[in-house]
Amino acid sequence: MYQIIGPFTQLLPLTGHANKGAIKDEDLLVLNHAGILIKDSKIIAIGDFDKLLKSSKNLIVKVTELTGEQIGMPAMVDCHTHICFGGSRAKDYALRNGGKTYLEIAKSGGGIWDTVQQTRKQSLADLTKGILKRVNRHLANGITTIEVKSGYGLSVAEELKMLRAIQAANEQSVADLIPTCLAAHIFPKDYGRSIEAYLLEMSSDLFPILKQENLANRIDAFIEEEAFSNQIISPYLAKAKAMGFDITIHADQFHPSGSEVAVKYKAVSADHLEASTAHEIALLAKSDVMPVALPGASIGIGCPFTPARKLLDAGTGLAIASDWNPGSAPMGHLLTQAAILGTFEKLSTAEVLAGITFRAAAALNLSDRGQLKANAVADIIAFPTNDYREILYQQGQLGPNMVWKNGLSIIK
Ligand code: NIG
Ligand code: FE
Repeated sequence: MYQIIGPFTQLLPLTGHANKGAIKDEDLLVLNHAGILIKDSKIIAIGDFDKLLKSSKNLIVKVTELTGEQIGMPAMVDCHTHICFGGSRAKDYALRNGGKTYLEIAKSGGGIWDTVQQTRKQSLADLTKGILKRVNRHLANGITTIEVKSGYGLSVAEELKMLRAIQAANEQSVADLIPTCLAAHIFPKDYGRSIEAYLLEMSSDLFPILKQENLANRIDAFIEEEAFSNQIISPYLAKAKAMGFDITIHADQFHPSGSEVAVKYKAVSADHLEASTAHEIALLAKSDVMPVALPGASIGIGCPFTPARKLLDAGTGLAIASDWNPGSAPMGHLLTQAAILGTFEKLSTAEVLAGITFRAAAALNLSDRGQLKANAVADIIAFPTNDYREILYQQGQLGPNMVWKNGLSIIK
């Protein structure tokens, strides 16, 4: 079935930009009085609304006519979340504000390990319910593609439970959930054998099941003092790579080093980078790894932002994701976080919008979304305003009033 949506007061297709490098606002394409022609779940064309209507008059078209002021753009993509978890870490948050650091809390038995205990207590059905609750909030905020990590199970059985819950939530939601296996989040202290033995067991026993059950095509690892070192993680990532998984890395969050691993294993993305120095920035700039800034973690922990301006000026791309998790990033509001990162890092409007749309899709190895173009999925959002700059200016307080997933209106 054909459908035309419009007219949008302004439409931002976000096409014509590279995945790497700075973007100037002068280069941002803004179409006035525009429409989108859709067939089933895919975009066929965008252009002047009246011309689209005229050129499609021989087709049987449903016209979704918009009234009032509407700014249209691609629906957002959140390329890094941990929204499958049990419990809360409000206690850690209060402790951090009282002066303890994230790593100190982790060392004394809190942190990620605490969430592992709380997540293991939940059934697959409970976990699925929790994911869907958070996914629905993201959908209402205009985010239709959401990456979701495991990593609070940390045994073959518990990681499988998480990934099966993510798969069930994906089946029950209109959103596209992109699962990632983060069995290398931290070394589980109840394991009983060495770190090397743990990683070997995960890669030998868990990876094949991920393939068999189509549970994840992406492997993530947290490279950090309280997690895994470059050396220790190497055989694990080599195995993942050899089996055809995409690699993504929690890199340089508190200390530099993870981005070296990301570049070495040609990861699709290196995420965090708050502690990256000129050395890591130069390495990333020479590679095709997509840096992912997680301002929600900086705000949640109270630490510096990812050096987004320096990265872009060095020639890297930049995706921006929420990192929504119970520990470091409890807020989970991507648009607010991206807008705030923009003010602190002096990012152009185009760079911020690219970071939460097509560059975030590229961080997930997806090129069929995050831009309004022929053959892209018809995932579209509209904001009730007359100037696209209002979207970041209102720092998340102006949300989309219309959201389409695969051409279907899901929120009005
Ligand atoms: O991306 N840094 C490691 N993992 C998460 C935090 C997870 C947690 O604290 O529960 C992050 O910040
Ligand atoms: Fe994370």
